[in-house]
Amino acid sequence: MSRTSAKDDVHLKPARLVELVCETALLECGRFPGYHATPSLDGVSHCAGCRYSIALVESLLKYRTLGRTELEVSSVSLGTGGPSRIGQWTHRDEAESHRVIHRALDLGINLFDTAAAYSDSEEILGRALKQTPRDKYLIATKFTPTRQDDGEEGEIVESIISPEELVESCERSLKRLQIDVIDVFQFHGVLPGNYRECVDRLLPTAKALQEQGKIRFLGITEYFYQDPAHEMLDLALEDDLWDTIMVKYGILNISAAWSVLPKAAAQNVGVFNMSAVRAKMTRPDELEEIITRWKKAGLIEPGALPTRKPLDFLIHDGVESVVAGGYKFGIEPEAVSTLLVGTGNIQHLEENVDTLLGSPLPTADNDRIRDVFGSFAASEEDSE
Ligand SMILES: NC(=O)c1ccc[n+]([C@@H]2O[C@H](COP(=O)([O-])OP(=O)(O)OC[C@H]3O[C@@H](n4cnc5c(N)ncnc54)[C@H](OP(=O)(O)O)[C@@H]3O)[C@@H](O)[C@H]2O)c1
Repeated sequence: MSRTSAKDDVHLKPARLVELVCETALLECGRFPGYHATPSLDGVSHCAGCRYSIALVESLLKYRTLGRTELEVSSVSLGTGGPSRIGQWTHRDEAESHRVIHRALDLGINLFDTAAAYSDSEEILGRALKQTPRDKYLIATKFTPTRQDDGEEGEIVESIISPEELVESCERSLKRLQIDVIDVFQFHGVLPGNYRECVDRLLPTAKALQEQGKIRFLGITEYFYQDPAHEMLDLALEDDLWDTIMVKYGILNISAAWSVLPKAAAQNVGVFNMSAVRAKMTRPDELEEIITRWKKAGLIEPGALPTRKPLDFLIHDGVESVVAGGYKFGIEPEAVSTLLVGTGNIQHLEENVDTLLGSPLPTADNDRIRDVFGSFAASEEDSE
């Protein structure tokens, strides 16, 4: 392969550049999983063969610190829940899910988010990562702190699980993931009304699991369809008990910018941003419907966006789709430690990494989004 000048290098799309680096691997570079370097005579680490400097590759791959955990995490991470569940709800081909997981590692992603509740996602991750050295990836998983039972009159009764059930859930996750320690163990989808009881009943047990070395850090995630204004996370941040939080911050709900993100930054709490594009932004008809509904409800000015293709104004100057614009918007705040991409599709994964490592959204588009969506926090739930 011929040597390329630094000027040419920067015009390569990041994922392609990564492929070039990996194609010609000789020696493993210590810092990033999947990258390979060999020292050269000028003392700068270069990829063997293609000669791209590792400094250039590293500058394209962005890593951030996950708050007080001090874990260095890729700014883009892979989610195994959502409407895809790493392919379980789309192609249903576990071998393909494994390829997505390994492609993520190759692209520099070192963080995987999963949950006991995500069908077989924990098992799939466990099987896919079995041969991968444990120091090359981080696992964030979750347990469900509530249970729903039928009441005497057929109604649904929700209650908080017992400390013993929490321990069992943790043990099952460790077994399914085939690991000895969970990097981040999260209370999954807690509603504001359940928050206090969850903490009082279950946090001491979670702390005991931490002391036993079964988990490293503790986090909490919101249920954003039922809690679009992030009331639970506001409570959690007042308590200052959590190493990480998981929030939705995206074009269709930017309200985390009002208090959750600034508070998390001030307290050095790690922030996972989930569902930045889910689900309306990936489904053009539903996107049009929800914008129309929000206009009728008086949340959006009638003339602020067109009825047809309301967010297509984002597509220009290197932003190739509404989804790409949505992910770019979601990764932008400094308070976001990592943006979760929930996909079971290798092409989508590569497109998303390319898009997220590229330039940010133009300021004018960012301003327009803030003008249109910046004053309300509404749920998208009704068509889920
Ligand atoms: N309360 C909680 O704790 C909670 C709630 C929600 C999510 N999460 C976590 O956050 C992760 C991310 O959230 P998410 O999966 O809801 O949202 P997301 O990443 O915003 O959206 C995922 C959806 O977008 C599609 N997609 C991805 N890239 C695409 C592309 N380039 N073009 C077109 N479609 C694309 C995926 O389908 P394909 O598979 O076809 O790509 C999937 O349907 C989850 O996987 C989960 O780990 C946690």
